[in-house]
Amino acid sequence: MRAYVLKRYGGPEGSLLAPAPGPRDILVDVRAAGLNPVDFKFRKGKLRAILRPTLPLVLGNELAGEVAAVGSHVERFRMGDRVFARVAKDRAGAFAEQACVDEDYAALMPKNLDFTAAAAVPLAGLTALQALRDELGVRPGQSVFISGGAGGVGTFAIQVAKWLGAHVTTTASKRGEALVRSLGCDEVIDYTVQDIASVQGRFDAGFDLIGGKTLDQMFKIMKPGATIVSVAGTPEPQTAIGDLGRGRGLAALFWLISLGVRSRARRAGVGYRYLFMHPSGSDLALLAELIEQGKLRVIVDRTYPFAEIAEALGYVEGGRAKGKVVVTMP
Ligand SMILES: NC(=O)c1ccc[n+]([C@@H]2O[C@H](COP(=O)([O-])OP(=O)(O)OC[C@H]3O[C@@H](n4cnc5c(N)ncnc54)[C@H](OP(=O)(O)O)[C@@H]3O)[C@@H](O)[C@H]2O)c1
Repeated sequence: MRAYVLKRYGGPEGSLLAPAPGPRDILVDVRAAGLNPVDFKFRKGKLRAILRPTLPLVLGNELAGEVAAVGSHVERFRMGDRVFARVAKDRAGAFAEQACVDEDYAALMPKNLDFTAAAAVPLAGLTALQALRDELGVRPGQSVFISGGAGGVGTFAIQVAKWLGAHVTTTASKRGEALVRSLGCDEVIDYTVQDIASVQGRFDAGFDLIGGKTLDQMFKIMKPGATIVSVAGTPEPQTAIGDLGRGRGLAALFWLISLGVRSRARRAGVGYRYLFMHPSGSDLALLAELIEQGKLRVIVDRTYPFAEIAEALGYVEGGRAKGKVVVTMP
């Protein structure tokens, strides 16, 4: 089987590795796989403190394809179903001709999408939904600030926040402005010319996709008592315990490394949370519904054939993608 396999951090090389479905798994003939910054970060070993799967490992975190076989305890899917999924974090495996997915992590693809567009949805779409609906509890009429609206997560986040009824402000350069406006964004700040801290108005909630200086500046434009959820800043204890299900050791490490950001948040009177999203077939089914109803558009920036996956990852790593990048299987 063709696959993009990581044998040692810093790799990878191609190889053959046939997945065997467990009782609750579906075996998927992968037609397309989405790329995400986590793929190159993982390849370089930058996530070793968080994820420690055994190598060799087939890379890739989201896919769309057809069910080729089902495990003995699978109830919701049958052979031939067209599905999409964010695969298990410690298992990955989407960059391959076939992949095993826990049935709880998969959903039927939206009927109005092809495999390429469907593969672009799971990781970024779920991140946006879980941050805005679950962590921030965005309600109609609230004002939400999203940093980095033009990328993979941002293009979903703007639309999810609008669907939840919020007034949405995002940051984008001239390269992404037309795109974020076309997704319904109310205000756009060109981060290349305007300091975020100088933005007029105060926000009920913040969703940070950039981290660093951007996150620090966001603390200054929130209403007292507001919360910022970041997926690009520094993990904090709840990330270890709540999101990763890990013990006190990792929580203590995250407590230590997040001291600075948490104290800046406290001084601003703002809550801070670093979210590590989780796979969810039921959340994915909701995203499929929104897509079928025309409430959510999928933005695919570039598509590459599987043979050019290294170039595709290089493009994602360059950090300029407008929407998502997808590889397609022959
Ligand atoms: N913790 C989690 O569960 C989780 C889940 C998903 C993603 N993430 C993380 O979230 C971050 C965003 O992911 P993504 O998939 O959206 O990335 P992406 O698609 O690679 O984002 C690229 C976009 O970011 C824009 N950008 C770059 N620097 C910017 C800045 N300073 N201000 C505003 N926009 C900027 C670029 O626009 P221009 O070209 O116009 O500059 C480009 O359109 C990554 O760090 C990723 O690892 C974490």
